[in-house]
Amino acid sequence: MNILVTGGTGYVGSHTTIELLNKNYNVIIVDNLSNSNEKVIERIKEITNRHVKFYAIDLLNEEDLNQVFINHKIDAVMHFAGYKAVGESVKLPLKYYTNNLVSTLNLCKVMERFNVYKLIFSSSATVYGKPASFPIKEDFPTNATNPYGRSKLMIEGILSDLSNSNKNWKIVSLRYFNPVGAHESGKIGEDPNGIPNNLMPFLTQVAIGKLPELKVFGNDYPTKDGTGVRDYIHVVDLAKGHIKALEKIDALDNYEVFNLGTGRGYSVLEVIEAFQKATGMQVKYKFVDRRPGDIPVSYADATKALKILNWKANKDIFDMCIDSWNWQQNNPNGYN
Ligand code: WQD
Repeated sequence: MNILVTGGTGYVGSHTTIELLNKNYNVIIVDNLSNSNEKVIERIKEITNRHVKFYAIDLLNEEDLNQVFINHKIDAVMHFAGYKAVGESVKLPLKYYTNNLVSTLNLCKVMERFNVYKLIFSSSATVYGKPASFPIKEDFPTNATNPYGRSKLMIEGILSDLSNSNKNWKIVSLRYFNPVGAHESGKIGEDPNGIPNNLMPFLTQVAIGKLPELKVFGNDYPTKDGTGVRDYIHVVDLAKGHIKALEKIDALDNYEVFNLGTGRGYSVLEVIEAFQKATGMQVKYKFVDRRPGDIPVSYADATKALKILNWKANKDIFDMCIDSWNWQQNNPNGYN
């Protein structure tokens, strides 16, 4: 089977491509390289000894995308391409809505034109906003609190409507909690542009000496140690969740949503402690004010994915820390 992976040179897209190749799928990647590096294609080949067909195109260009569907018989699509920095989305909402929504609309139009109706969409736990209780279930109210999260929620609504309009569609939205870690080879990993927004890449850059110290955003949250709690999930476990969704997609409803998390929350201080224990590295940090827009706690109820997709996360916080550190040590400047 031929799987089209949009955003396939990105962090989650590249790890999912590895798992697809490991399961003997053929992979075609389209990516505009706006937030990733073409070197990933070579690294994927080094890891799997398999070629992927790569097109450096933008989903905003429908004609270029159309040509890919002419060149290849696509059986299913995994859609990762999209801007994903929460802070930037607040400053540049039009950039986020235009890119994330129009890319998806173009993709769905071209898919329909070529009778390709299997779609797995990269969504985010951000759609839950500030949940009233925990763990978070898929039927909880959604309430995005920033343009990035709202764009994800809007796309979920579009995909739901699409699946209602034509029963050929089989669409799955996977709501990621906090992806961290890297492939055990250390050849691919998270490579943020500039100063990392997310905890783990910032932490590994402090450990390797690229950044002086970690700022812990608030230690006065209503949590066990006052720091924010999140459901960190190893990116390889996350990738495997996509394979399970693909394998089960024919048996699912026309539109389904799944949380992909571990069901376990860790505070920032617990992550720092786990990282130091797992790697033997010391991480300098200090407490600063809360980051605007942060919620105190977020962690998943992942039982629906276990029940229906027969998927659950296996890697623990130490695996996540060790693999993140291995990637950082092997690639002090990411792919550059
Ligand atoms: C985790 C915890 C911070 C950095 C966001 C998006 C989500 C997904 C993942 C795109 C929080 C604390 C962080 C730092 C810190 N992105 N922190 N110092 O905000 O839970 O989720 O990224 O798909 O959609 O919303 O992740 O890693 O930024 O923060 O103290 O330098 O670490 O306050 O408690 P977040 P994060």
